[in-house]
Amino acid sequence: MKIVEVRHPLIRHKLGLMRRAGISTKEFRELASEIASLLTYEATKDLETTEALIDGWAGPVEVQRIKGKKITIVPILRAGLGMLPGVLDMIPAAKVSVVGLQRDEETLRPIAYYEKLTGRMDERIALIVDPMLATAGTLVATVDMLKAAGCRRIKGLFLVAAPEGLAHVEATHPDVEIYTASIDQGLNQQGYILPGLGDAGDKIFGTK
Ligand code: PRP
Ligand code: URA
Repeated sequence: MKIVEVRHPLIRHKLGLMRRAGISTKEFRELASEIASLLTYEATKDLETTEALIDGWAGPVEVQRIKGKKITIVPILRAGLGMLPGVLDMIPAAKVSVVGLQRDEETLRPIAYYEKLTGRMDERIALIVDPMLATAGTLVATVDMLKAAGCRRIKGLFLVAAPEGLAHVEATHPDVEIYTASIDQGLNQQGYILPGLGDAGDKIFGTK
């Protein structure tokens, strides 16, 4: 299974800023989006391009274009919305397929409450975005939804991932590629990632 911890200095610096206690909603949101842009850059490195002949300022010129149907970004409500602007900055023409899942605080099992996918999922690369990959219950349920809709090429972008969650994805969907700014130590008793970021949704939306 492809798991990429993107160890770029800009990402490490920005993630370090995000880990500070008492960080403001504004700063957390900005950093989440900035790191999302950098992860997108890394996760799209292997996209295929095709040649096209266009009219340039000095005559015909051969250029490269990304091949195939437009990518679909899949933000997982609600915290995934915090990464969406940064991904769209890199891929402005992407289609957005929104899914809503919330982890039950007691059982840690995901509860799905929304699904609105774009068409032709079988022809698109899906980029799932969510700040946190903890037990991976949420990711596995999302991948199940996307595969049921015909999606065959799926990548996931996360700010922080726990080793337990990565093992769960490997056991269930080893074809999914994971890009993360950090593989952290592990989960606490409540299923929170340590050192992690705390509750990413609350920090992005300023709730609690
Ligand atoms: C968080 C996070 C992931 C999920 C990760 O969302 O944004 O979606 O938990 O946990 P898992 O890997 O153990 O499934 P949460 O359920 O808190 O919902 P929210 O985005 O609405 O805050
Ligand atoms: N969801 C979060 O927001 N943070 C975690 O550490 C785990 C799940």
